[in-house]
Amino acid sequence: MNSTERPEHGRAQSAERGADAGTDPVGNRPMSTDEIRAAYADYADAFRRFERFDRLFVGGYRERQFGDAEGRVLDVACGTGTNFPYLPGTVDLVGVDISPEMLAGARDRLADLELDGTVRRMDAQNLDFPDDSFDTVISALSTCTFPDPVAALREMERVCDPDGRILLVEHGRSSVGPVARFQEWRADAHYETAGCRWTQEPLAVVDEAGLTVRRADSGFLGMITTVEAVPE
Ligand SMILES: C[S@@+](CC[C@H](N)C(=O)[O-])C[C@H]1O[C@@H](n2cnc3c(N)ncnc32)[C@H](O)[C@@H]1O
Repeated sequence: MNSTERPEHGRAQSAERGADAGTDPVGNRPMSTDEIRAAYADYADAFRRFERFDRLFVGGYRERQFGDAEGRVLDVACGTGTNFPYLPGTVDLVGVDISPEMLAGARDRLADLELDGTVRRMDAQNLDFPDDSFDTVISALSTCTFPDPVAALREMERVCDPDGRILLVEHGRSSVGPVARFQEWRADAHYETAGCRWTQEPLAVVDEAGLTVRRADSGFLGMITTVEAVPE
């Protein structure tokens, strides 16, 4: 599928999704890609420091989701390369992210793991790769930060081989009432500091992007959603 075959999506659509969900902070003050990049410049060190917690709470999901990735693998919004240790050592890896500071961490990690790979600075909403260039496209905890997550997911589909797979580990609104209410209460503040819509419904976004979902699961109080999708 070519990305031009679908209508353009943007903040208006994000705000509409928020209106459905009731609390999407994007509807209040959408952050630009530059603002999000600046936020992650400050977060790069924290990501490295809190990796132990990530391994504890999200590591199992990453391992199950990415442990059988194969061939040419694209990690979209790879950050500091948190997914890399969970990939088989045989993959041919490319990681992309908008933040140079996060990518510096990813570069270090590639070297530490002695993985065959490269990282590049790139906007997930406008991937600089030809159609069908990867066997597996992976992404974790990312769609909540993209100004236009639907566009980014369609780009993932475009660059994924028709026989390939798109594997996601996403986070969003909890299915547990008090936790969801806390998230809603803090949604604006969290978005302002981290550029992250943590009350997002990941499956609604994947559905809006038109990906064909083969498998979807949720865990960790409903806050983590894993998705295996295939190009149309
Ligand atoms: C919460 S972090 C997740 C990083 C990594 N995937 C992980 O699981 O640890 C979100 C990442 O998305 C990146 N990001 C945000 N907007 C982006 C965009 N438009 N294009 C590419 N990367 C983006 C940020 O720089 C950040 O590294």
